[in-house]
Amino acid sequence: MSSLLIEAVGLHTYYDASHILRGVDLRVGQGETIGLMGRNGMGKSTLLKTLIGLVKPRAGSVHIMGRDMTARATHEIAQMGVAYVPEGRGIFGNLSVLENLQMAARAGPRGQRDWTLDRVLATFPRLKERLAHGGQQLSGGEQQMLTIGRALMTNPEVLILDEATEGLAPLIAREIWRICSLIRASGISSIIVDKNWRHVTQITDRNVILVKGEVVFTGSSDELRAQPQLLEQYLGV
Ligand SMILES: Nc1ncnc2c1ncn2[C@@H]1O[C@H](COP(=O)(O)OP(=O)(O)O)[C@@H](O)[C@H]1O
Ligand SMILES: [Mg+2]
Repeated sequence: MSSLLIEAVGLHTYYDASHILRGVDLRVGQGETIGLMGRNGMGKSTLLKTLIGLVKPRAGSVHIMGRDMTARATHEIAQMGVAYVPEGRGIFGNLSVLENLQMAARAGPRGQRDWTLDRVLATFPRLKERLAHGGQQLSGGEQQMLTIGRALMTNPEVLILDEATEGLAPLIAREIWRICSLIRASGISSIIVDKNWRHVTQITDRNVILVKGEVVFTGSSDELRAQPQLLEQYLGV
C-alpha cells in the first residue's frame, strides 16, 4: 500500500469548454500539511473538488491510500477518510450546534474514534458555550468552527480546508489557525487553501502554488520564504 494518502497525477479538469486544471500533480503524505496557494480564479477550489469527486477530471488520476478513486462518488471518498470543508459555510442552520456535531459522528476508516464530542468541544471552547444555539444564530467565525468541528467528528485521515479564514475578524482567524495547528499535531494530514501565506507557511510542510491551473512552485515553507520574488510574482504580495 502506498504511504501517500492522496496522489493526484496529471489532472485536467474542465467546466464545459473552459480548461481549468492543466496537468496538476499533488501528493499528500501521512501526517503532512500542505498549503495550496494562488490568486483568485487560479483553480484551487477546482483542484480540491476534483480530488474529492465533486468535479470529474477529463484526464489524470486520483489515488486515495493507494486505491484508484478517480471520478468516484464523493461519499465513497469521504468514507475513506477525506473530510472537506468548502468555501462558505455548509452548516445545518435549523439544527443546534450539538445536533450538527452529533450528526457527523462516526469512526474513521481505520476504526479510529480519536475525535469524540468531548475532544471537539475541548478544541472549540466557543462551540461548547453555544451547544444549544441554532446554526443560524452563530457568528461567521463560529459557523466556520462548527464546520471544522463537524469534519473532525468523522475522524478523518485528511482534512481539506478551502478558505476557512475568509472574511473572519483577525482574532477569530487566529483561533482557526490555532485549531489547524492542533489538528496537525494530532497527526491528521491537511490541505489548506488560504490567502494569508504567512499563516499558511507557519504550519505547512509543503506548499504548492497554482497559476492558471498549473503548478508553478512546490516546496517547503523555508524554500518559499527564501524566494520572495515568487510570492510577489504568483501571489501578488
Ligand atoms: N462551476 C463552475 N462553472 C464554470 N466555471 C467555473 C466554475 N467554478 C469555477 N469556475 C471558473 O474556474 C476558474 C477557477 O476557479 P476556482 O477553482 O474557483 O479558483 P480559485 O479557488 O483558485 O479562486 C475560474 O476562472 C472560475 O471562474
Ligand atoms: Mg476558491
